[in-house]
Amino acid sequence: MKKAFVIGHPIAHSRSPLIHNYWIAELGLDASYEAINVAPDGLADFLTEIKEQGFVGGNVTIPHSKTADIAKTLGAANTLYLENNSWSATNTDGYGFLANLDNEAPGWDKRGPAGQNGAKTALIIGAGGASRAIIYSFLARGFQTIHILNRTLARAQTLAAQFGNKIHPAPLEAFDNLIGTADIFVNTSSLGMQGQPPLVLNLDNLATATTVTDIVYTPLETELLTSARARGNSCVDGLGMLLHQAVPGFEKWFGQRPAVTPALRAHILDHLTASQ
Ligand code: ATR
Repeated sequence: MKKAFVIGHPIAHSRSPLIHNYWIAELGLDASYEAINVAPDGLADFLTEIKEQGFVGGNVTIPHSKTADIAKTLGAANTLYLENNSWSATNTDGYGFLANLDNEAPGWDKRGPAGQNGAKTALIIGAGGASRAIIYSFLARGFQTIHILNRTLARAQTLAAQFGNKIHPAPLEAFDNLIGTADIFVNTSSLGMQGQPPLVLNLDNLATATTVTDIVYTPLETELLTSARARGNSCVDGLGMLLHQAVPGFEKWFGQRPAVTPALRAHILDHLTASQ
């Protein structure tokens, strides 16, 4: 039996077991996926011990995704797998972000006010780990201009320094002036999430051709998406990113590529609604 884990501290909130156990049951695999609470100072021992116990890999969440040596090497890892009996790590957030858009808004990276002229432009709010993965994704898709707006300008500047001159850091106040040029606009901050302050923006300058997406998925339909949808914009919610980012890990551990289906989405939504 092949076993996988998600480790964090705390870990009870993780939705990953719901997703992976759904796929294990759907595919009828002799496999398991379990949530394990591992304190930061126990990580090294944990990774040594579980090699002996049939584990083939797993996911890492806060704080391990920020503190693990293996994660530091890669920026931030969310997926571990055994290769030749030693641990390798990768980050699947960028994959999940792009797969969600490709599925929910096909052609999103070929339209918009600037993209029509070949100068693809993105505007991102937030400068944390998710923003980093998304910047990487946009660069991979040939975006020429990526505006990073953040409350703490210094964090946006740090990202810009790491990624090069296509990245333009700015304060949140620059939104009104810049949004009109964006082919895609994504919120990667926690603003608008249940229990967090709202994301207050003036969308007057948002072009109808701009794709709008939010990585927040509680609530599923954030105020940003509701407002943009009412203006006629193509909008993509954040739940698909969560589901798609789980695909590469599952395939590596268990050898079968799982599908993100409407039934899986409904299954996770049921649990999100029940826990609210
Ligand atoms: P993650 O790694 O999941 O992206 P993070 O590193 O905690 O999470 O980043 C959260 C983002 O939300 C940051 O860009 C943060 O802005 P700061 O860098 O200024 O902290 C943003 N954010 C969180 N609360 C905010 C608030 N009340 N107002 C503005 N931005 C906020």
